[in-house]
Amino acid sequence: MKKFLPLLLTFVFISLYSVAQTNRILIVPQPVSMEIHSGNFKFTPHTVIIAGIKEKHEAQMLNLFLKRLYGFSLPVKAKSTAKEPNTILLSLLKSDTAKAAYNLEVTSNKITISSAGNEGIFYGIQTLLQLLPPISLNANSQASINANHTFLIPQLSINDYPRFGYRGMHLDVGRHFFDVNFIKKYLDYMAYMKFNNFHFHLTEDQGWRIEIKRYPRLTSVGGFRNGTIIGRYPGVGNDSIRYGGFYTQAQIKEIVKYAADRFINVIPEIEMPGHASAAIAAYPELSCFPDEATFIAPTTPWAGSRDGKQVQQTWGVFDDVFCPSEYTFKFLENVLDEVMQLFPSKYIHIGGDESPKTEWIRSAFCQQLIKDKGLTDEHGLQSYFIQRIEDYLNSKGRKIIGWDEILEGGLAANATVMSWRGEEGGIAAARQKHDVIMTPGTYVYFDHSQSKNEDSVTIGGYLPLDSTYNYEPIPKELNADEAKYVLGAQGNVWTEYIKNSQKVEYMIFPRMSALSEVLWSPKKNRDWTKFTSSIEDIFKRYHQWKANYSTAYYDLQSTLLPTPEFNGVYLKLESKFPNSVIKYKIGDTSQVWKTYDTILFVNSSEKIESYLEVNSIKSSVQTKNFLFNKATGKKITINEQPAPNYPGNGAFTLVDGIITTKGLSQSSDWLGFLGKDMDADIDFGVPTNIQNVSVNTLDQSGSWIYLPKEIDIAVSDDGITYTPLTTKVLDPIKDKGARKITLPAKVTTRYLKVVAKNSGIIPANLPGAGSPAWLMVDEIEVN
Ligand code: ACM
Repeated sequence: MKKFLPLLLTFVFISLYSVAQTNRILIVPQPVSMEIHSGNFKFTPHTVIIAGIKEKHEAQMLNLFLKRLYGFSLPVKAKSTAKEPNTILLSLLKSDTAKAAYNLEVTSNKITISSAGNEGIFYGIQTLLQLLPPISLNANSQASINANHTFLIPQLSINDYPRFGYRGMHLDVGRHFFDVNFIKKYLDYMAYMKFNNFHFHLTEDQGWRIEIKRYPRLTSVGGFRNGTIIGRYPGVGNDSIRYGGFYTQAQIKEIVKYAADRFINVIPEIEMPGHASAAIAAYPELSCFPDEATFIAPTTPWAGSRDGKQVQQTWGVFDDVFCPSEYTFKFLENVLDEVMQLFPSKYIHIGGDESPKTEWIRSAFCQQLIKDKGLTDEHGLQSYFIQRIEDYLNSKGRKIIGWDEILEGGLAANATVMSWRGEEGGIAAARQKHDVIMTPGTYVYFDHSQSKNEDSVTIGGYLPLDSTYNYEPIPKELNADEAKYVLGAQGNVWTEYIKNSQKVEYMIFPRMSALSEVLWSPKKNRDWTKFTSSIEDIFKRYHQWKANYSTAYYDLQSTLLPTPEFNGVYLKLESKFPNSVIKYKIGDTSQVWKTYDTILFVNSSEKIESYLEVNSIKSSVQTKNFLFNKATGKKITINEQPAPNYPGNGAFTLVDGIITTKGLSQSSDWLGFLGKDMDADIDFGVPTNIQNVSVNTLDQSGSWIYLPKEIDIAVSDDGITYTPLTTKVLDPIKDKGARKITLPAKVTTRYLKVVAKNSGIIPANLPGAGSPAWLMVDEIEVN
């Protein structure tokens, strides 16, 4: 009996793999062209890699990935002897064709990957790996891929090359720190999808993450903070846990080498002149006011001392920026000297974004410098700052990249612009004949919510998979000559609300797969229907990589609607998949899941959970906590329409019984008014006795969202003529961070008018100064 066991096992596993073999071919990003022929190549652990000295590195990389993903590696020989059962030939061609372009030919006994560049061979290898089935190794199957195992690869010809030369992913390791092992994993994800630039955001207000030998306090002091705010900004408390970390120079070298092995260039970002709190905490002389303590609002939840210069524990934009003094310039040159020794990248990113001018306005030194240098104002001074650093880096043979604010006050001569506040910065820079990398928030900020029902806290916004997939990096405003300056695009991952690597993976996947296709594949090949028809296979790859991912694509669509009698709320659940089943449950956890078949009527405070199942995929559970009050479900009209990006579900959003606890992460629960008031009329149907009225709003200055300056309540018997009842004027200091503003309103009335007055143009010295403020409202409660 014992003797037959291995045979049996082999049989079981071979049949397992043949199931896998029936998967369609899915290569992400999809290649330029692929022709499938009849017949297969039998890929086994005996297949031999033929690689000369010039292709040796690529052969090693193929084996490294095979070992990791399938548990075996292949023999490598310099020359074929015709004895091998079948071979994979890696062939570096003498040709002046593009180095990233490759051909992949699969015949019955030979796979050939050829390119004029080693990177092209590497990309061909990545494609080959995706011709193998997306099986996941576990302890059992690892042992099982044995000498008898065969994967069948269809005979085919692929011709492939990238659309854009710059295919980037960014990671902010300042707000939260990620260890070297995870950075390597991130680089592997990039390699799998043929990305070639890693933007390593190394310095922030909340932490300096790169060892600089000449300035040890940058990491010993600037690398750590005494705590972190809890929850969404401005926070409901502080965890009081000392937090931090940094990469030693040896680790940086290890990361740069690991990336280079995968044909990924690492672009370090050293932020200046803003986002410099951690550096200033380490070396206060970098500030224009070294003797003044870091400004911390009395209401900011804080851990430890508030004295002296502090590493920030909360999020946002901070006034204490680098002073444009000779001390600072010498410091930055010394820092950049060490950075350039570690990073061979042609580009060094110098930040340049979100740098308030408050301290420069207040500083006699800066004002004198503006005069001495004949500059226009503080924007001119920022331009002078960036240009000096650019001159220094240019003199060492490097080029700068800066965020689009570097356009303000005049662009440095050779700067490349990263357009993040929309596409305008990129358009302006390309028209000035400057290179551009597109990273507009609306399409490629992977810290934004993927789901309208996001359950974890995010920075907000709503950036679903199709927005990324359908993004076109060349703005339509540019003509063909100007378009040549667009080098490519990049996904950005800011980590205020991303504390661990699983959450990074959840935020990037599957949007990063979508972006890879935007950047690599020809525009005409991009096909949303085809992409989503393969999404389960994409998810299988993530399983194989042991990566977390979001299933937001499968989200239920839920809509809250008024009932004809205005006596409750209808909850409508919908799926975009015809073969799916929607399950829901009302009340506490002991209730069983029921199958949804018709709209649900809700007329009391309840918790309703729901999810959908389609094929093997289960969507995340969506929770609606209804809080009924006298306004819930009532007829409501608004006299000012919200901005198009925050329309909620119209006026009814304000009385739908849902008050979100997730801030803007659940963007569909909000109405957003840009520079306008919220002016709502509620009809109770019959004269109704009420005690008070509350407006649920948001104070989030970092996102230019401010409290209303005033709330007015008026009443009416006919819904036409209103009599003022009560007013509350808000105090931006005393009411800072208020979420729910309540006004007493003891009265019997049929109609109620609630006006929340927008705070107007944002005053100087506050985030968004000079722009209209956002007023966000998610619910009006009447009790
Ligand atoms: C940025 O998102 N502040 C570049």
